[in-house]
Amino acid sequence: MARFDFTGKVALIAGASRGIGEAVAHGFAEHGATVICSSRKQGDCEKVAEAIRAKGGKAVSAELHLGELDHHDKVLEMIEKEFGRLDVLVNNGATSPHFGPAHEASEGAFDKTIEVNTRGPYFLSTKAFPMLKADGGGSIVNVASIDGLQPAEFRVIYGMSKAALIAMTKGLAKEYSQHGVRVNALLPGFTDTKLASALKDNPAMDMYVKMNLAIKRMAQPEEMVGAVLYMASEEASYYTGQNMVVDGGAVI
Ligand SMILES: NC(=O)c1ccc[n+]([C@@H]2O[C@H](COP(=O)([O-])OP(=O)(O)OC[C@H]3O[C@@H](n4cnc5c(N)ncnc54)[C@H](OP(=O)(O)O)[C@@H]3O)[C@@H](O)[C@H]2O)c1
Repeated sequence: MARFDFTGKVALIAGASRGIGEAVAHGFAEHGATVICSSRKQGDCEKVAEAIRAKGGKAVSAELHLGELDHHDKVLEMIEKEFGRLDVLVNNGATSPHFGPAHEASEGAFDKTIEVNTRGPYFLSTKAFPMLKADGGGSIVNVASIDGLQPAEFRVIYGMSKAALIAMTKGLAKEYSQHGVRVNALLPGFTDTKLASALKDNPAMDMYVKMNLAIKRMAQPEEMVGAVLYMASEEASYYTGQNMVVDGGAVI
């Protein structure tokens, strides 16, 4: 479908070294975009970019720590210089250093979670806005979580950071959509990635899956790609400020 075609478009994926971000990077490249795969570990992102190029796609890698605002500036300057445009930003990178009772969380774990999951996407989005609105407009997709709607025990700070990301999505949508930049969020459920590995290995999760999910299994990262592509595409030209929940029916 032509409106799902990203040929000639440039997409920056923050947090593309593995998991959902890696799958999303492949998805954009398969639909014609030039993809900038970024995270703290440029070497890992370069492997993702290489795999995309090996399939005939267009991709480069960049070092981008969401917490380091000078990295934001450097990557956006590189994109301006090398490609002259930016059409899509996916804020996918996140961390969750504290898993346990809320009163045992350190200040450091609290600050790190907010720095990477909330502050980073805010400044990357606002810094990218001028480039996104040039050349006819663009799109931001924030990867939040169903934890932002229904916070879970033992990862309260993570849930708070994602609730803030959902609020940011709605606020920026109100500000930016009139300039042609739509802003939406993907809210994944339980997905088979490194971030969820501690949960996956916890025997209590089998019970969670049986009791709470309509589809009785965890998602694979590739199952998140279609939703992100849709939200970023022309097909979603009247879609903004929304949460797209892809969670196997956990939140119904
Ligand atoms: N898996 C789930 O069950 C689940 C559920 C709901 C929402 N999500 C969300 O989905 C998104 C992707 O997570 P995932 O499940 O795919 O986990 P993952 O496989 O662990 O991937 C996390 C990604 O975030 C990047 N990242 C971490 N810290 C970063 C930082 N400071 N700056 C830039 N990038 C950083 C990592 O890259 P480097 O380590 O190379 O920096 C990696 O590419 C996250 O926003 C997560 O909250 C996941």
